[in-house]
Amino acid sequence: MPLKNTESRWGGMAQSLHWLMALGILGNGVLGLIMDEMPRGMTKLNTFAIHKSIGLTVLALLILRVSWRLFDRAPPDEPMPRWQRLAAHATHGVLYLLMLAIPLSGWIYNSLHGYPLQWFKWFNLPALMEKNEALSDIAGETHEVLFFVLLAVLAAHVGGALVHHWFERDNTLLRMLPFVRLRKPGQGDSP
Ligand code: HEM
Ligand code: HEM
Repeated sequence: MPLKNTESRWGGMAQSLHWLMALGILGNGVLGLIMDEMPRGMTKLNTFAIHKSIGLTVLALLILRVSWRLFDRAPPDEPMPRWQRLAAHATHGVLYLLMLAIPLSGWIYNSLHGYPLQWFKWFNLPALMEKNEALSDIAGETHEVLFFVLLAVLAAHVGGALVHHWFERDNTLLRMLPFVRLRKPGQGDSP
């Protein structure tokens, strides 16, 4: 599979970043909800540290992903009505914003609360704001609510992909998957 996108499918780089980040975001969201319910103690603190490190990794991958997206032209959309194209692009735009806003709100919350921040016990990262207990509650709520907003938008995103796959029977989903043959491959594309 080529690293770059072709005329008919997403390349290895875009696919890897899409699925790795989807796993990272959803896994980290579930971890966040679980750790919130944990009793105080070392296990909770260690889980917090892992949650924050995964979240920072997602943020770093987002920078790489957006840079790659600007550098490597996306495959043209599969044929679809204009409203669907607009809805899909708007959804993608909101997902990009949420991929930025969720880890950033976590980082802001962490700063306002005065917690330390390390990436996998490797190096420290600075606070983004001065400690402020009153504001930290709002930031914590925002962090959580944004994750639930992501789940709602994701329902539309995944729903759209599955409708295209099962009902329109086009390549929208297949071209984001590795090692699968397209339904009507474009010229010069390997499966
Ligand atoms: C992929 C990115 C992330 C996702 C999806 C995510 C999601 C979540 C969720 C769902 C919770 C549970 C909220 C609750 O029940 O109150 C949570 C808690 C938390 N997150 Fe994140 N998070 C991400 C990144 C980050 C980052 C980068 C940081 C800090 C640098 C961070 C710091 C925290 C903290 C400190 C809590 C605990 C809140 C509490 O005190 O209960 N998160 N996160
Ligand atoms: C947290 C989870 C996810 C996020 C944040 C996310 C985000 C995105 C974004 C921003 C794009 C647009 C790519 C671009 O134009 O640059 C995209 C494309 C795509 N996503 Fe997701 N996605 C997630 C999970 C999923 C899941 C679970 C599916 C499974 C059905 C999926 C299926 C697709 C497909 C098929 C495309 C390509 C659409 C096209 O070619 O027009 N995504 N995703």
